[in-house]
Amino acid sequence: MNMTDPQRVAVVTGANRGLGRAIATELAERGLHVIITARDAQAADAVSRELNGKGLVTSGHQLDVTDPASVARCFADVAIQHGRLDVLVNNAGIAIGRGQLAASPDLERVYATLEANLMGAWRCSAAAIAEMRPNGYGRIVNITSHLGSISTMADTNVAYRVSKAGLNALTRILAAELQGTNILVNAASPGRISTRMAAGKTDRTPEQATDTPVWLATLPNDGSTGGLFHDRQPLPW
Ligand SMILES: NC(=O)c1ccc[n+]([C@@H]2O[C@H](COP(=O)([O-])OP(=O)(O)OC[C@H]3O[C@@H](n4cnc5c(N)ncnc54)[C@H](OP(=O)(O)O)[C@@H]3O)[C@@H](O)[C@H]2O)c1
Repeated sequence: MNMTDPQRVAVVTGANRGLGRAIATELAERGLHVIITARDAQAADAVSRELNGKGLVTSGHQLDVTDPASVARCFADVAIQHGRLDVLVNNAGIAIGRGQLAASPDLERVYATLEANLMGAWRCSAAAIAEMRPNGYGRIVNITSHLGSISTMADTNVAYRVSKAGLNALTRILAAELQGTNILVNAASPGRISTRMAAGKTDRTPEQATDTPVWLATLPNDGSTGGLFHDRQPLPW
């Protein structure tokens, strides 16, 4: 399939700001029809309108990844309106309760973190795979973090670390299950980027961190699968 096929459809979660917005913009610049999703429908529509004003092809859609009904609605609407789904970027994420200890956790915050960062991506992946299977093509990119690496695990940001380690595990499991289907599942760690989440401690802008996610979202058929990457280089899991 031509990589600039205007009918190729991508869903990006948390695309109203930060890294998600930058990834969505770059995918649209590559000719994909990008569904800009956000918890707030108006925020999604505003970004979509802005990008369309620059000649890109996008649509806005409400999507809260922690809400099963919202996820079901979004992917059903994509199926009805486009009849295909080629790319899913699981970007939506939160980092709350950074200072807590694993031995005395605020479990409400742990659950909220797991719901958004792990279960949200899982829920969206399952919905997306159901749409990808009939076309025999799909690229799922999970936005993870170096903090989720088991090989360098440490006792800071504990809920966030556990959620991203879980996301890494999910990436490998889905990739293994989908072997031979041309639905490739990978994870990308963007490094520390200047978004609201990083709270001012920045190494690079979101626009400087899109290369690996976009590369994985558009991998040719002979691409690797089940990997965790940073700057296109494999990371230890
Ligand atoms: N910034 C970094 O240094 C860094 C480093 C490594 C990995 N990451 C990862 O990169 C991804 C993007 O983060 P970012 O840095 O761009 O942070 P951000 O600016 O805080 O953006 C987070 C995005 O996720 C959305 N979101 C949160 N909960 C959601 C939910 N339940 N449903 C749908 N969307 C939801 C937010 O929407 P609202 O506007 O509605 O809140 C926002 O669009 C995350 O997965 C994060 O873990 C970031």
